[in-house]
Amino acid sequence: MNIMKPLYLDNNATTCVAPEVLDAMLPFFQEFYGNPSSMHTFGGQLHRRVEDARAQVAAIIGADPEEIIFTSCGSESDNTALMSAVESFPAKKHVITTRVEHPAVLNFAKHLARKGYKITYIPVDSLGRLDMDFFKKSLDDNVAIVSVMHANNETGVVFPIEEIAAMLRQRGILFHTDAVQTLGKVPINVKELPVDMLSLSGHKLHAPKGIGALYVRKGTRFNPYLIGGHQERGRRAGTENVPYIIALGKACEIARENIAQETAYVSKLRDRLEKELMARCPDTRINGDTVSRLPNTTNISFEYIEGEAILLRIDRHGICASSGSACTSGALEPSHVLRAMGVPFTAIHGSIRFSLSRYNTDEEIDKVIEVMPPIIKELRSLSPFSRDNFPKC
Ligand SMILES: Cc1ncc(COP(=O)(O)O)c(C=O)c1O
Repeated sequence: MNIMKPLYLDNNATTCVAPEVLDAMLPFFQEFYGNPSSMHTFGGQLHRRVEDARAQVAAIIGADPEEIIFTSCGSESDNTALMSAVESFPAKKHVITTRVEHPAVLNFAKHLARKGYKITYIPVDSLGRLDMDFFKKSLDDNVAIVSVMHANNETGVVFPIEEIAAMLRQRGILFHTDAVQTLGKVPINVKELPVDMLSLSGHKLHAPKGIGALYVRKGTRFNPYLIGGHQERGRRAGTENVPYIIALGKACEIARENIAQETAYVSKLRDRLEKELMARCPDTRINGDTVSRLPNTTNISFEYIEGEAILLRIDRHGICASSGSACTSGALEPSHVLRAMGVPFTAIHGSIRFSLSRYNTDEEIDKVIEVMPPIIKELRSLSPFSRDNFPKC
């Protein structure tokens, strides 16, 4: 493949594998390829290595190692949490979530709705903040589980999960949070945060795609999603993906040791990018609450133009970002998150998400700041929605 080196600002979509993580996992493909469940020493020795990785993952969220179940991805962790809850409390037929969850939760909720469950979707305000009054009013004795993401992948808005968890603990209602986007970006300590289940994914954290974990607090009723062998203490069948488990452990160790410096570094780059683009491009707006937000994310609408046109133009300069619309069945579907926030049509379609990582540099931000304003100006000059192009009467 002949791909130019990207200027990669799409780290909420996926991240590069850190060199230290790759080094840690490689011996487990060809040298130590055994099965951790084997009786012989060659395979059995890997059991210890898997447990070391489990301890590394547990440490980043303040959990005990036996509270960590390795999964194949964040989506599996989310599905497992919801499925386990509804199977553990078969008499309870109400599930509460938000309108802005990742499809791994939203589509699972739809699946449950088809089976007859009542699903309540908590709305958000124009800044993407949860309507906490609505949430409180929707609680009843029939709730099997509440699932609220820790931070939104599109806007970076961080939700008050401490407050939600405390409220649900008092009422004895199970609480799951999808922390796929916050791991390594926001400190998490389940010793102080009374969540029952929490989802993680490796590829948002410089580990490879295809590895995740689910934290399940000790004492939580649990039903496995994958049924088969006795792996993961009978909580998730399937021979352990040893290299990727080692990788996730290493990625968590690096993230835990560096979280303070990394978030300071990344948020400084993000803030400069945001400030300069807003200053240099008229008719822009930030989508989402900037007070409670991930340090690496900004979602900016360049009004009256299409995000896809912007993405294609910046792609020619090697710049990778995401837009607020997804191509579904040949049509551009506006983001469900921005729609839930009531972002106007002309702004949703022109929204671009930049999500940074520790590998971004000041020089890269300089380049984006230089490249984007003329592109925005040119696209506006072509846009039928642009205020300057409205027919004059
Ligand atoms: C908030 C959130 N939850 C879940 C997922 C799914 O994770 P995975 O790709 O590991 O299945 C993502 C991935 O984009 C995400 O952003």
